[in-house]
Amino acid sequence: ASMIKETLSVEGEAMLTTDTEKLFSELLPSDESACRRRKFIAKLERLLNEEWPGHDIRVHPFGSTENLLCSDDSDVDVCISTSWRRLENTCMLAKFWANHKMERVICVPGAKVPIVKIWDPEYDVACDMNVNNTLALENTKMIKTYVQIDYRVRPLAMIVKHWTKQRELNDAAGGGTLSSYSWICLIINFLQLRTPPILPVLHQIGSGSRPEKVVNGVDISFCDDLERFAGYGEVNTESIGQLLFGFFKWYAYDFDYDSHVVSVRHGRLLSKSEKGWDTLQNNRFCIEEPLVTSRNLGNTVDDISAKGILQEFRRAYGILSSQANLGKCVKRFEFP
Ligand code: CTP
Ligand code: MG
Repeated sequence: ASMIKETLSVEGEAMLTTDTEKLFSELLPSDESACRRRKFIAKLERLLNEEWPGHDIRVHPFGSTENLLCSDDSDVDVCISTSWRRLENTCMLAKFWANHKMERVICVPGAKVPIVKIWDPEYDVACDMNVNNTLALENTKMIKTYVQIDYRVRPLAMIVKHWTKQRELNDAAGGGTLSSYSWICLIINFLQLRTPPILPVLHQIGSGSRPEKVVNGVDISFCDDLERFAGYGEVNTESIGQLLFGFFKWYAYDFDYDSHVVSVRHGRLLSKSEKGWDTLQNNRFCIEEPLVTSRNLGNTVDDISAKGILQEFRRAYGILSSQANLGKCVKRFEFP
């Protein structure tokens, strides 16, 4: 472990920061794609209400469409809300979309949250939709609040997401890896653990003075009062390059996969035993869902993919820490 570099050289750090900022600006979605998404969402809402009038059906975007971490290749996640419970029949919904010129329609009725997947050839947008799972709107609001607190969160999260997509580490359902949402939680917790911290713990702040919102026995409320956090992370002056390097180092060499649990809700690492997760199945990589704390977001990771993910953290760390790569791999952030 004595070979593990703690920080980059001043030169390396400056270069990485410049490259990171450049890549970030390239990853930001174009106005044109943002516009297509908006029109697509309006179209969904119009078609649904034309077919089933009088049910006050609304289409709420969530995920990267709402959390400021969208890039051109992101899908659109939407939650359809209605008091008309029949619409929760996802297969009926899937048929409806297929009859309205949507393509690649897939109905996943048995999932924890039943969804319908569609692709709209008119706007070239892929979409995952659920009906009445409003919890996803809450955790999206939480992510967005964290992104808005410090200017470094957005570029870091977008670049880590980009890296996960390049390295095929972003397929929870099919690949045994992690969803973007889980990756974002890893970044947030890393930033909460900096000294001094770059991000606060939204669940702990002002918890006495706001109304509780209890779902399944857990208070899902959190502080979203941005004014309270003005300048919060400024005492920490680490650059984006330093933080990106630190992120890879943290999960490559410091985080203990055997005993630690990532907890954004508590702003620290929990132990598997204190959560009772030492006997849990699929507990190779433990990431507590911040609102539904009984859920392990890492439960898609098995022994083999856990090794793969660790290797990828080490590979990225190795590329960034090698002087030989300065101006080469790092220059264009060519991770793949
Ligand atoms: N979500 C969740 N639990 C998960 C995965 C996702 O509650 N295990 C919800 C979250 O509300 C999240 C949203 O689904 O914000 C979208 O998840 P995902 O597509 O993984 O993240 P995005 O931010 O949309 O990233 P991308 O741009 O890659 O689609
Ligand atoms: Mg998404």
